Amino acid sequence: MENKIHQIEQEALAEIEKATDLKSLENVKNKYLSRNSEFNNLKKGMKDIPNEKKPLIGSLLNKVSQKLTSLIDEKNQIFYQKELNEKLLKEKIDITLDGEYIPQGHVHPLSQTINEIVDIFNYLGFSLIDPKLSPEVEVEKYNFDLLNFPKEHPAKDMQDTFYCTSAKNVILRSQTSNAQAREMMNTKPPIKIISPGRVYRNESVSARKNNLFHQIEGLYVDKNVTMTQLKGVLNEFIRLYFGSSRPTRFRSSYFPFTEPSVEIDVQCIMCQGKGCPTCSNTGWLEILGAGMVDPNVLRGVNIDPEVYSGFAFGMGVERLTMLKYAIDDIRLFFNNDERFLKQF
Ligand code: DAH
Repeated sequence: MENKIHQIEQEALAEIEKATDLKSLENVKNKYLSRNSEFNNLKKGMKDIPNEKKPLIGSLLNKVSQKLTSLIDEKNQIFYQKELNEKLLKEKIDITLDGEYIPQGHVHPLSQTINEIVDIFNYLGFSLIDPKLSPEVEVEKYNFDLLNFPKEHPAKDMQDTFYCTSAKNVILRSQTSNAQAREMMNTKPPIKIISPGRVYRNESVSARKNNLFHQIEGLYVDKNVTMTQLKGVLNEFIRLYFGSSRPTRFRSSYFPFTEPSVEIDVQCIMCQGKGCPTCSNTGWLEILGAGMVDPNVLRGVNIDPEVYSGFAFGMGVERLTMLKYAIDDIRLFFNNDERFLKQF
């Protein structure tokens, strides 16, 4: 029995010595120390050993199995460290290498302007219209008739407005003013809304004109709304949008749906009022149309002009963006040239 134990010990020691990695060491461990190992079978055979020899054989078995276990554990530690180091070395990251550039998109400059203007008017007490009341595909009634356009007004001409060929009176709206009558028919005063969106005109495209562009409409109807309030609100808007330093002027004008009507100019951003080609040497640039809502328009939507009054305004988003950033061609907004868009 003792010889057998020593023989197995020698074999095991030789195999531990030969093991070169965690895997082979694990195999040795299974072979000599697991429950079904030869060594363990010897332990099971203890019952057949004569009593007087039991202490000796028992302690020898324990000694050898402890020796093998600790040798295997020791080597196991060494292999584990070695393999871990190799793995770490392989997975090492060079933090000095250039990162991979992932380009990020951002909000289009026109959307930025719309957001900015909406924020300003929210601050001044105007809320966004329900989009259902401001459709892009419209009927003539809301785009023209209820806004007091006479039957033969040139804006209604097919040269100026896109008409649907398959449905009578259906157009692409030519102005966000279409929202005015819809809002007033839907809501009782006080009304204080803005309505941003796309509009369409049948024009030849140039640096100054595109046949799709954006407007923001505003409408305020209540008792005792005055022209002074209109001036106050729009001056405050201009101050907030351009910064306080920009001079403005109100010029009288004409729109079928407002009386009196005005157009507002800001001092030319290119020449600071001295006169240049951008402002046709006038020193001023027109930025919006506005006026007191015509009593005929109020009557058309069943609001009594003896009781209520209102003001309205409409501004071009492209124009306002071009003036703020000195952009000289409206087509840049629609070409999706990243070199342009990236600047905003
Ligand atoms: N809808 C006009 C246009 O497209 C702009 C405008 C002028 C809107 C006067 C208004 C207004 O609400 O009161 O030229």
